[in-house]
Amino acid sequence: MNFFPLVRPVLGLIDGERAHRLTLIGLRLGFGPTDHESDPVALGIDRFGLHFTNPLGIAAGFDKNGEVPDAMLAMGMGFAEVGTVTPRPQAGNPRPRIFRLTDEGAVINRLGFNNEGHASLRRRLEARKNRGGIVGVNIGANKDAADRMADYELGIRTFEDLASYFTVNISSPNTPGLRALQGRGELEALMVRVLKARTGNVPILLKIAPDLTEADRADIAAVALDLKLDGLIVSNTTIEREGLVSGVHAKETGGLSGKPLFAMSTKVLADIYRLTGGKVPLVGVGGIASGADAYTKIRSGASLIQLYSALTYQGPALVTRIKRELVESLKRDGFARVEDAVGVDVK
Ligand SMILES: Cc1cc2nc3c(=O)[nH]c(=O)nc-3n(C[C@H](O)[C@H](O)[C@H](O)COP(=O)(O)O)c2cc1C
Repeated sequence: MNFFPLVRPVLGLIDGERAHRLTLIGLRLGFGPTDHESDPVALGIDRFGLHFTNPLGIAAGFDKNGEVPDAMLAMGMGFAEVGTVTPRPQAGNPRPRIFRLTDEGAVINRLGFNNEGHASLRRRLEARKNRGGIVGVNIGANKDAADRMADYELGIRTFEDLASYFTVNISSPNTPGLRALQGRGELEALMVRVLKARTGNVPILLKIAPDLTEADRADIAAVALDLKLDGLIVSNTTIEREGLVSGVHAKETGGLSGKPLFAMSTKVLADIYRLTGGKVPLVGVGGIASGADAYTKIRSGASLIQLYSALTYQGPALVTRIKRELVESLKRDGFARVEDAVGVDVK
């Protein structure tokens, strides 16, 4: 059963972080809805050696500690990404650090990688490892790490037997200096080390920021092609405030997500698709709040899509709605499968 419409008014009244904690508790207790329909064939897609029954996943940050991946899959998500996880537990920034801009369908957060650390996530993923489903692990570095790159290597080694894929997150705006790893030299050095740390062939994706110069984007595309990265996730939250009309919290420091991020992240997505000649699988994230948005991301180069902010406003019914609308859009435009629509808008 979907309890969201009943609890939504209450969740809307309390602080964003507390509302999120309650949501996770509800999901852990089994109050999340279940999508009993099997996904239509048209939504299936194969990328980096995995078969996704539908292209929609829950973005990183919703379930930092791996408490509810199975609830998210049961809700109808094609995959779940847990994390960002850092080697040692980390408290993150002082509260309040999540701000809802309800009128704008947006969120600003400056959590700063609060999470319970590798050991705790490992225990949870081990406990669910026979349940199947695609569960990616998003890895990061502790704020006070002496060697940040070593933290990413450790992430790979720690979760290699449990992760369906990895996301190397160097694009959070809330860990000072982290995004400098996106520069060509640093990025190459990091990804070479990360790829070397892998002993098997678990796919490794890189998650990038939307606030990149043209030169940065070209560098990232070149590194992804040179090192044969399995995919890129475009994008994380933005430090820009473009597209924000009002909102009492608009001036808060942190990463902006949700509707105001849509146009900007989709532009970067299309650009990266063009720069990589469509050869690197892309995950489109940023401001998806409808089937039409999801479809636009796919036409702009995304093979897979993720969302977070819209779920806090619309609740879990959004998942089945997006899938239904996506099927309708594909059919309307004469595409038999998601695959056929990937990148068709990119010149
Ligand atoms: C509260 C919050 C926490 C987040 N934490 C993470 C995180 O730990 N790691 C990460 O890679 N992205 C994190 N993100 C970014 C999302 O994964 C996503 O890239 C971004 O929110 C854009 O998608 P959306 O507009 O659908 O929310 C977070 C986003 C929000 C709103």
